[in-house]
Parts: sequence; structure tokens; C-alpha cells
Amino acid sequence: LKPLMAKEEEDEDNVDLGSGKCRVSIFFGTQTGTAEGFAKALAEEIKARYEKAAVKVIDLDDYAADDDQYEVKLKKETLAFFCVATYGDGEPTDNAARFYKWFTEGNEGDIRLQQLTDGVFALGNRQYEHFNKIGIVLDEELSKKGAKRLIEERIAMARARQAPQSFISEKSMNSNVANGNAAIDIHHHRRADVAVQRELHTPESDRSCIHLEFDISGTHITYETGDHVGVYAENHTEIVELAGKLLGHSLDLVFSIHADKEDGSPLGCSLPPPFPGPCNLGTALAKYADLLSPPRKSALVALAAYTTEPSEAKKLKHLTSPDGKGEYSKWIAASQRSLLEVMSEFPSAKPPLGAFFAAVAPRLQPRYYSISSSPRLAPNRVHVTCALVYGPTPTGRIHKGLCSTWMKNAVSAEKSLECSGAPIFIRASNFKLPSNPSTPIVMLGPGTGLAPFRGFLQERMALKEDGVELGPSLLFFGCRNRRMDLIYEDELNNFVDQGVISELIVAFSREGAQKEYVQHKMIEKAAQVWSLIKEEGYLYVCGDAKGMARDVHRTLNTIVQEQEGVSSSEAEAIVKKLQTEGRYLRDVW
Ligand code: 2AM
Repeated sequence: LKPLMAKEEEDEDNVDLGSGKCRVSIFFGTQTGTAEGFAKALAEEIKARYEKAAVKVIDLDDYAADDDQYEVKLKKETLAFFCVATYGDGEPTDNAARFYKWFTEGNEGDIRLQQLTDGVFALGNRQYEHFNKIGIVLDEELSKKGAKRLIEERIAMARARQAPQSFISEKSMNSNVANGNAAIDIHHHRRADVAVQRELHTPESDRSCIHLEFDISGTHITYETGDHVGVYAENHTEIVELAGKLLGHSLDLVFSIHADKEDGSPLGCSLPPPFPGPCNLGTALAKYADLLSPPRKSALVALAAYTTEPSEAKKLKHLTSPDGKGEYSKWIAASQRSLLEVMSEFPSAKPPLGAFFAAVAPRLQPRYYSISSSPRLAPNRVHVTCALVYGPTPTGRIHKGLCSTWMKNAVSAEKSLECSGAPIFIRASNFKLPSNPSTPIVMLGPGTGLAPFRGFLQERMALKEDGVELGPSLLFFGCRNRRMDLIYEDELNNFVDQGVISELIVAFSREGAQKEYVQHKMIEKAAQVWSLIKEEGYLYVCGDAKGMARDVHRTLNTIVQEQEGVSSSEAEAIVKKLQTEGRYLRDVW
């Protein structure tokens, strides 16, 4: 802030150097709470250093009620930070989507923000192709509109930089409204009962994959084939009980948390309390606290402040200091040590509940699943196909995935009147069938990557029953072994018999001496695959982003090189063009 204050010395409206007065807005675009956490940490840091700075932390979704107000509001900003994550396949987070769309395309490019000094902090994962796209585009747009960067260099963002492009169709960005779900989103969910729950693997398999159906009748929830469902699962009872013990309170304790804006703690930023109160501790821990993720450094700082044993407090502080960086990476991050494991190691750390929920335990986030049904076949049901996350972490703890464990244990209405239920909402996606059903499609989805394609095929089945002529379609599926995890086998065979899929190609990775993956099968059928896609066809990939989708992308490049007789970079340009035309779509995680 110092250079900024010096620069703006004459600007009496905003900065009074004598008193250190300065107005700062920190916007966040977050999906899982990380960017929000950084935004709050930055606010705390600014407040600690510049006592008179007026700092606001703002959820981008809450900035303006409708698009017309953005310009007026932005023109009043003088110093703004944007902590924005890139999500999925180069998309903005849900809470940033409306602002991002308006800022990058909706304002006709004529707004000027010369009064603004900005800083963009982009959060992303290097393993994804569209690494940090949202931060990069936002930074470039701010510059184009005349805003000044607080720091000129772009730090640690250079890799995998690309030209800004929007792959998100107008339809998908607006489809929450088009779906009739205007009031149902991440903040406004509906409770839905579990109507059906069953295991998809055979007993021979040592893993588990659950087919689950939420009953959405009467909830006003609607969805489109290819959308995602967000599910708020609760922490398991054993986890909640352990947390209660570590905090030293009974789970029946009733409490509520208030934002105390006067003294700046524990919720110094003008944010609402983390959840509605009053409620009992057991409910709060089950529904709102992320207890199983490794704690961030800011959580350890907060924990240290309430640790009475000096040696424990010292070790916690060390973990958050520059000297303790290596130890933090090893002992917390690489070990996947959960918040509860950390608290067990520091028994004198007993934060009061306000501090615990506001600063130590992040808010429990919904988990997203690609919906595996089509509303044409199942208008009152949302189907989910979920692999159980279960396995040892480096510390020896058995990690049980929050939502997959909940689904594994869920009781369906088929089996009991006291069935399980969860708050859910729909997130629109751009993973949609071509509008013309006769357009050729090629689908690749190993494992639970099959989910959205089951929805696609249900939709095509319904179209066919209505007499619509379907274009050719190939489905590449991959699993370990025909006897164990060839999920939905009968349904898939039926889709073939009915002509809804022209050909089903399955790669078995653990049957022969050599692993066979979907991309190997794709190479075997290179000529057919490329002839379908080349003219007007669509290619869809769903599943694991870092392994499968990356390997399939490479294979696609190879196929284009061979089929078109072009170089690797020319092939990449052809593939990029497919992407910008919206004909190469990925639903990856
Ligand atoms: P594996 O577990 O035997 O390695 C669904 O999970 C299927 O995807 C499994 O058969 C799995 O094989 C396979 N798979 C794992 N890594 C993959 C990759 N990089 N590309 C394609 N398929 C992969």
C-alpha cells in the first residue's frame, strides 16, 4: 500500500496520508472457500498494518443486485483486490460468474476505470489446462479499462498463459434462470430425500460406487441434462464427537455467533456470521465445519492464539512462520493431516466457538456431481453416480470422503420411511448435447466419468421414442474388469440395442497383461473418431482431469496429426478451434 499512498497523495477523496486513511475493497470469487480465506487474510493484514484503512471483503455475487449497477459502483472504487479462483475447465466460480460475464463481455467495453488501482490474486491448479484463466482475463480487462496495477509484475502466473477466450455459452451462464431455478443456488438449496440407493460394483470388487437418486418432486428444483448437483453432506457422527471432545464442549451446547464489527474480531470483515444461530454444537459441527481438510496457515495462527501450553503455541506459530515452511509442507500438507489430527496433537489449543467457526475451521463446502440422469426420463429425480473415497493417508488415518461416505450410508425411501435427505441445488454446466440430434457425437468417460453420458443417452432415448432421427454416436467407457465394475452394463447394452449408441467400446484396465485405457481404444478407432468429429461432430470427455483427460487430450492431438498429416502445433490449433467452437467439451475434476 505504501507506493499507492504516495502516488495518491493529492487525491483527498480517498486517501489521507496523515491519518493513513484509505478505502480498500477486497472481492472474492470462490468455490470451496480458499479464495475467500485469502481475501479475509488480506483484509486482516491490511487492517493490522494500516489502522485507519476502511477494508471491505465482498462476495462478488453480493456486489450489485443487477448488472446495471456494476459500473457506477466500480467507478467509486479506488483500490480493489480481486482474489479469484478458476474452476473446472477454465470457468469462473459460481459466485463470480455474473460479474465476470458482465466485466468481460457485458459492458460493451466502454467503461473506464482510471481512478482504480487494482491487484488480482489468481488461484488455480497448474495441472489444469486453463490454469488461472479467470485471474488472467480479469487482470487484462482491468488494464484495458484503464485501471492501474498496484504491482506491475505478474507473479507466478506466467505458466500456461493463453489468449483469453470464453468457452462458456450464453445459454449455460443463464441457464440457472432459464431452468426456473433462479432462487435455488449454492446459498438457496432445497432438502431432497434419497429415493433410491444401490451399489453398482459387484461383491467381487474391493471398491464401491453408489447409484443414488434424489427425489426433487415438490422442491421447485429443475435441471437440464449435463448439469451438476451440489450436495451438502454432513460430517459423520464419529467425526463430530471427536471434534466436540477436542473443543471441550458438550454437543448439546446451544450457542450463536455474532459478527463484531467494532473491535474487528473474530469476524472483523463485514461478513455475516458463518451460519444462522442459535444452534447446538453437534449440528454446527456436522453441517458447517470442514474438519477433515488439512488446516491452512491462517487456521494455525488462530489456533495458536488460543493455545495455553507455551511449547505447543510455539510449535504452532513455527509452522506458520517462514522458517517453518518446510515443516508445514511436510507435516501438514503432504501428510494430509486433518484439522482434527492437528488439534489432537495440541491438546491445550481450545479456541472459543466463535473463533473456531470463524477462523479455524473453514465452512464445509458442498460437493458437486455430474448428474447421471435426464429430466426427460426422470423429471422428479436427480441421479448421482458416486465412487466411494476411502483409503489411508500418509499418517495412517483412514480418510473417508465426506459426501461419498454419506451416500454410501444413505438410507433410501425404498427401504425405510425414515430415509436420508440432504440440501441440494443445481449448478448449470455447458456440457450439453448438440442442439441438433443428428449431429455426430463421441463420448469418453471411464469410471464415474460415465455419469453425464448416461444422462445424454437417456435424453437421446427419449428423443428417439418421439420419432427424432439420431446422428451416429460412439461411447468409450473404461473400467478395471468386466466382472467387477462395468457399471450400468444392462442399461448400456440396451442403449446399443435401441440404436441410441452406435457403438459401445469398453477398455478393461486390469484384465489382460497390459493396461487398456479409453485413449488406447480411441487410437484403434482413430479414423472413425476423426471422421465423426471433423466436419460437425462433438467430442465430450468426462472424468479425472489430471490423468485421464490430459492423456486423452494428447491422444486427440496425435490422432489429428496422423489423420490430417499435420505437425503437433498445427494439430493443437485444430483442437483449440474445436474448443472455441464449443465442439470439444470437458466435464473434468
Ligand atoms: P486403473 O485403475 O486400472 O489404472 C476408471 O477409473 C478407469 O480409468 C480404470 O479402469 C482406471 O484404470 C482408468 N484410468 C486410470 N488412469 C487413467 C488414465 N490416465 N487415462 C485413462 N484411463 C485411466
